[in-house]
Amino acid sequence: MKQVMLYCRSGFEKECAGEIQDRANALEVFGFPRVKNNSGYVLFECYQAGDADKLIREIDFQSLIFARQMFAIASELESLPADDRITPLLESLQELEAFPRCGDLRIETPDTNEAKELLKFCRKFTVPVRQAMRGKGYLFNKEHSKKPVLHICFVKPGHCFVGYSYANNNSPFFMGIPRLKFPADAPSRSTLKLEEAFHVFIPKEEWDTRLASGMWGVDLGACPGGWTYQLVRRSMFVHAVDNGMMADSLMDTGQVKHHQEDGFKFEPPRKNVTWLVCDMVEKPSRVAQLMGEWLIRGWAKETIFNLKLPMKGRYDEVLEDIENLKYFLIENKVKFKIQAKHLYHDREEITVHIQVLSNISPH
Ligand SMILES: C[S@@+](CC[C@H](N)C(=O)[O-])C[C@H]1O[C@@H](n2cnc3c(N)ncnc32)[C@H](O)[C@@H]1O
Repeated sequence: MKQVMLYCRSGFEKECAGEIQDRANALEVFGFPRVKNNSGYVLFECYQAGDADKLIREIDFQSLIFARQMFAIASELESLPADDRITPLLESLQELEAFPRCGDLRIETPDTNEAKELLKFCRKFTVPVRQAMRGKGYLFNKEHSKKPVLHICFVKPGHCFVGYSYANNNSPFFMGIPRLKFPADAPSRSTLKLEEAFHVFIPKEEWDTRLASGMWGVDLGACPGGWTYQLVRRSMFVHAVDNGMMADSLMDTGQVKHHQEDGFKFEPPRKNVTWLVCDMVEKPSRVAQLMGEWLIRGWAKETIFNLKLPMKGRYDEVLEDIENLKYFLIENKVKFKIQAKHLYHDREEITVHIQVLSNISPH
């Protein structure tokens, strides 16, 4: 297998391609990305057979910023006949030796308006395909969350890519998108950005300890309060920092203290803050620097923040800001875990999470 499929936000194919190219080079896997603007996906063509599997095993999926999903392509079918699409699908897999037996089936499309029209068909098609794949032994008879995932991605009616991803190195979500419901009482839609960040960055089994009731959070650039809402609904207390107005519903909870101050100058009154979150619309290098300063001073243990992307050179800006921030933390003897992702609810921005593991710098 020579091709890898990566899903991304429509309009970010160039960034996704730049990233996969860099990561393949680092593994000495040679190839090139095929990019179609606004298609919602990138294909990476390796020169050597077997290299697609190497990439989806060895590139840590969590470390990719712009890819929502990554899988090795086993076959491409361009004109499936409408009266029997399943037989050619099965036949295309028959010729392959190395297709793993899968524990889950996802029939998907890229996330574009045109492709999304196919979703109804994908849903209907899933049941007979699952049965046929089980019959031929490509799928286990029962769903297995730890076994590889079989992906069929329809880019047009009758045109699909068939492949697989590894359950320990992929996005667990259909189309790489967590489905979240907008909470009716949240003050802004951006609330879903922070909620998605929790789903992507914090393992569910750790939510009770890392997003625990009674913790203190600081929200820089908080108004009208969508991010603060996420902390408040988890029974945390929040310093909300912003010159604007906070939603009354949040202030009424008694869990929020509103500071009408500059987020770059705010200092928490007590050093008991677990979470620092920040959605200020500011130069990304400035925000990254500020987050570094908070963590080095020991003012917070974990942070989730947005880096707003520039119009041009988005990938380079992101790489530079993250590299500088890592260097700043390492130089100051902070041990940490970092992950950055272009989330589904992000537009011209990415979201970064840092967890401090140890900090021996003098505060
Ligand atoms: C995208 S909005 C935040 C939305 C918020 N996260 C929510 O979910 O409702 C950005 C906010 O950053 C605030 N902001 C920008 N620069 C700031 C600064 N230097 N200090 C404090 N707030 C700032 C703006 O006033 C604005 O309310």
